[in-house]
Amino acid sequence: IYRSRLVGWGGFLPARVVTNAELAQRVDTTDEWIVQRTGIRQRHIAEEGQLTSDLALGAARKAMAVAGKTADEIDLVIVATTTPDETFPATATKVQAALGMTRGAAFDVQAVCAGFIYALAVADNFIKAGQARNVLVIGAETFSRILDWEDRSTCVLFGDGAGAVLLTAEQTEGKSGDRGLLSTHLHSDGREHDALYVDGGPSSTRTVGHVRMVGQHVYKHAVTKLGAVIEEALEANGLNASDIDWLVPHQANKRIIDSMRQRFGLDEDKVVLCIDRHANTSAASVPLALAEAMEDGRIKQGDLVVLEAIGGGLAWGAGLLRV
Ligand code: ACO
Repeated sequence: IYRSRLVGWGGFLPARVVTNAELAQRVDTTDEWIVQRTGIRQRHIAEEGQLTSDLALGAARKAMAVAGKTADEIDLVIVATTTPDETFPATATKVQAALGMTRGAAFDVQAVCAGFIYALAVADNFIKAGQARNVLVIGAETFSRILDWEDRSTCVLFGDGAGAVLLTAEQTEGKSGDRGLLSTHLHSDGREHDALYVDGGPSSTRTVGHVRMVGQHVYKHAVTKLGAVIEEALEANGLNASDIDWLVPHQANKRIIDSMRQRFGLDEDKVVLCIDRHANTSAASVPLALAEAMEDGRIKQGDLVVLEAIGGGLAWGAGLLRV
């Protein structure tokens, strides 16, 4: 019987930073509105020609360096993305080739902002089933490419970036104790399509399309559904809110994050925030936040970490990780 242990992590952001003030020159908005309603101050935007796979590769290399693993040791690459380089093949196969992997498998997972949690669940099940030993799980997006830059209600909210983790299979008996991914919990409700979607795609319009969102509707669902799935994750492991050392939430809106923090009675310094600098990077947001807090040593060995996200679908989920 195997468990997934976190052995590597890394984030990668495009160099170009776009501030709220810069956006206010393009659309009818203000720095004050964006900061008050969302907590966002700036976002990173990929250059022309800088692809999702490039960002994913940057994050993957860092995660592999931290773990001390080489390309020939990786069995599986999973990329969670809504903004693949091309309609096909999977962006993960481009990362696989760029890493110099000549074996193993690579595929993409699509669950928009919840994509990383979904990809983590898939990876964990491959590891538990004994089908993979070392798995790269990457969330990577160039969300700027599917934004309607004339729609102030959406274009101010998102950014580009990538985050990666490396999971390795460890026998549950013996030295690992209770460390590793304890459980993942996934949900979706396709009836909520119209709340958040892209108005294009190969089968419907043969175009790429733009993000459309009914913000307040998604906000209300986010608060209730994230609260419920965190509760579910704690209960499944016989834990309660006081056991949580860190909340590493999807970075969509600081007010949603604050409401989770209050619901579970967490102090502000127990929540990993990067929304002010990254905005919402969709599938990249959770691994980017996790990588930052692992890198700077805030999250320590033995800490219990709650990961959560919600996005288009609606699709949402949570994971509990004992680092
Ligand atoms: N600048 C200035 N004013 C704006 C802007 C802007 N950028 N955008 C909207 N407004 C205006 C609106 O037009 C509205 O004006 P009105 O009152 O005259 O009609 C007013 O601000 C209030 O708009 P609301 O939509 O009610 O603002 P709200 O407080 O709900 O904040 C927001 C909007 C930030 C989008 C919020 O609803 C939210 O964060 N929703 C959830 C987003 C989310 O979590 N998405 C999931 C992940 S994304 C994914 O999966 C791809």
